[in-house]
Amino acid sequence: MTTERPQPNPQPNPRRNAQPQPDDIGGILIHRGLREELSRLADAAESGRRAERVQEQIELVIAVLHQHHHGEDEKLHPLVRDREPSIGTILDELEKEHTLIQKLADDAADRTRPLPERAPVIRELLDVLRPHLALEEAEVFPAITRQISQAEFEEFVKGELKAAGPRLPALFGMLLHYALPGERKRFLADVPTLIALLWRAFWRRGYERRVARVYG
Ligand SMILES: [Fe+2]
Ligand SMILES: [Fe+2]
Repeated sequence: MTTERPQPNPQPNPRRNAQPQPDDIGGILIHRGLREELSRLADAAESGRRAERVQEQIELVIAVLHQHHHGEDEKLHPLVRDREPSIGTILDELEKEHTLIQKLADDAADRTRPLPERAPVIRELLDVLRPHLALEEAEVFPAITRQISQAEFEEFVKGELKAAGPRLPALFGMLLHYALPGERKRFLADVPTLIALLWRAFWRRGYERRVARVYG
């Protein structure tokens, strides 16, 4: 990874600024969930205890990471790049990092290697991921707000919920487990009512039980 980060040259979109702007609280929560879980998983892997539970949690977190990158590469970045070309250099760098992150993530989840041996791989993944997520939060999230309409963003979120498939309860659990009460409220305000009800009734406690089984 380079130490010199390209500098953006934000171009406000007057047309879009006049419309309701999207609230990317889901992006903030998914980034936090990834950082928190990977940091806990590095310690859990090192201990070698509850190996199967820890392995399953690694696989869940890596699947969430894959989907998140896919959504950025295929949907969000092309839209933002098209409307704000000056951010292209930053998006190029982020997309290049996705390839490296993916390789480390696949190594972290590789069942053919003993779990404790993979603790340093998870730490290396975190070392690459932290500045990557920070750059997105500083530069790409504001560009999303400037350039993508609320309706377009809702469409994107709908696609992401669908793509999560059977992982949806655990994905919601992971995102909301690390959210502050105000953030939880903002996030749930933008998801279908049935899904918010399912989280309150079942998924929240399901994820708490899962976390207790993985980390003790
Ligand atoms: Fe990314
Ligand atoms: Fe991201």
